[in-house]
This record gives sequence, C-alpha cells and structure tokens, in this order.
Amino acid sequence: TLSLVEQAKRSAAFAAVDKHVTPSVRVLGVGSGSTVVYAAERLLELKNEGKLHPELQCVPTSFQSKQLINEAGLRAADLDDLVDADPSSTTYTAIDVTIDGADEVDAELNAIKGGGGAHLREKLVANASAKLVLIADYRKNSQVLGQNWDKGIPVEVSPIAWQTIKRQLERLVPRSRALGVLATSDAFELNHPVATLRNAVRKAGPVVTDNGNFILDVHVGRIHDPVAVEQLIKMVPGVVEVGVFSRMACEAWFGNEDGSVSMRI
Ligand code: A5P
Repeated sequence: TLSLVEQAKRSAAFAAVDKHVTPSVRVLGVGSGSTVVYAAERLLELKNEGKLHPELQCVPTSFQSKQLINEAGLRAADLDDLVDADPSSTTYTAIDVTIDGADEVDAELNAIKGGGGAHLREKLVANASAKLVLIADYRKNSQVLGQNWDKGIPVEVSPIAWQTIKRQLERLVPRSRALGVLATSDAFELNHPVATLRNAVRKAGPVVTDNGNFILDVHVGRIHDPVAVEQLIKMVPGVVEVGVFSRMACEAWFGNEDGSVSMRI
C-alpha cells in the first residue's frame, strides 16, 4: 500500500497520462523524478492495452527517464534527432506533449524544477514541446513559488568557476537589472540570497549532473516575479540552466490529500 503522498503522485500521473497520451500522440517527452515513475507505469498499461500510437517515440530528460522508457518497452528518441512538426510555427515544437514532475507550481503554472538535478534536459525538452503538462502531489501546490519549496532554486553551473558563480548569485538583489528590462519591483523576497553547493549523498563531494556540471541551490525566499528571476539568474556567466520554468506549462495536475485530483490551467 502506498502512502498518501505516493498515492497523490500516482493519481495525478494517471489522470494526466490518460488525458494527454492518446493514440494520436507520436512524440512524447518523459520527465524525471519520483512522480514520473507513475506516469511510466500508466504508459506501460496503455501500451499493453494497445492504446498508444504504434510508432510512439519517447524523449528522455535524464538517465533515470531513459531507464523508465526502456523498462516500459517504449522507444527512446534523441531530442536532436527529431524534426519540427510544424515549421510554420514561431516556436520549435518537435514533441507533441511532455509530462513532467515539479518541485513547486504556482497559481500561474510557473514552476521550480531540478530537485533531482535534471532541469537542463527537462527545460530543453519542455521548450521543444507543444504542451508541457506538470504532475505533482499536494505538497507542491502553491500560490507563490517559495511558499512551500524551501530548498532553493536549483541552478546547474559550470564546475570551472562554481565559486565565482556562487558569489555572483549571492549578489543578486530583489531589484537587480539584466539587459535593462527587469525588476522595477522586487522580483524576490530576500535582500541577501544564499547559494549552496549541492553535495552528493553517498559520496564525499558535490553532485555531478548527467551533463558533468555542479548544482547550486539558490535561496531567494518567495519569488514574486518568476520571469525576472529566471532571466536574472540565467544571465550570470557560467550558469548552464536555472530551475525556474516561467510561463512554460499549460496544465498542472495535483493529487490531493483526500485522494481526489485537481487540474489547473
Ligand atoms: C528533476 O530534476 C526535477 O525537476 C523533477 O521534475 C522534480 O524534482 C520532481 O521530482 P519528484 O516527482 O520526485 O518530486
């Protein structure tokens, strides 16, 4: 039997897969993390029932995600090998839909991701998707980013200058400017952000991502302007990718404590 939280993750994952992974979906982005495990469970069921597109290609977002795709007997495809489904579109959409977890989702579907360190590939895949659908349990359902998630914004950085990048990130202030366009009001809460190098659990030393980089977790308090925070952090030289996903998701599914599922658009 599953705990309440695990049950909530599973219900959200099943509901989102059932709505979005129809037999007409040819290219599916598969996110990373513990919630996506349940999405893969449902994909396997649908495959066995003959309800998936016979040529379905799944685009992984991490080592773990590729394993999930393989274990479900699905075909993995490399993002770079896909071609744009609609070259006339102003955005690049080689993937029909991506289903991914999140660490926190706000009222406008902005999200923090990267608790599992996979946000670089997750953002690449999300950005190439016509739709990004998030799945999460009730602990991640927030009005404002930073309200429930207290582990900071995951930022993947180049190891060659991680301490310099850390110092730069800690000098961001709520009204920092980048390109002269940002933050006329406070973009985040703390006047003095704190960035910590993420350390590995069963190894002495830092987490090394699938891409050979380090992760700094940047504590800024509540995020009032996710677009500005994403841009400010991304502008720091040596930042490879920031785990703020502003205005990317089109839908979020939450498993609630009472066993029900809610959808936010
Ligand atoms: C991976 O780096 C993250 O972006 C995950 O999508 C996020 O941390 C959600 O993971 P869980 O489903 O395990 O909470």
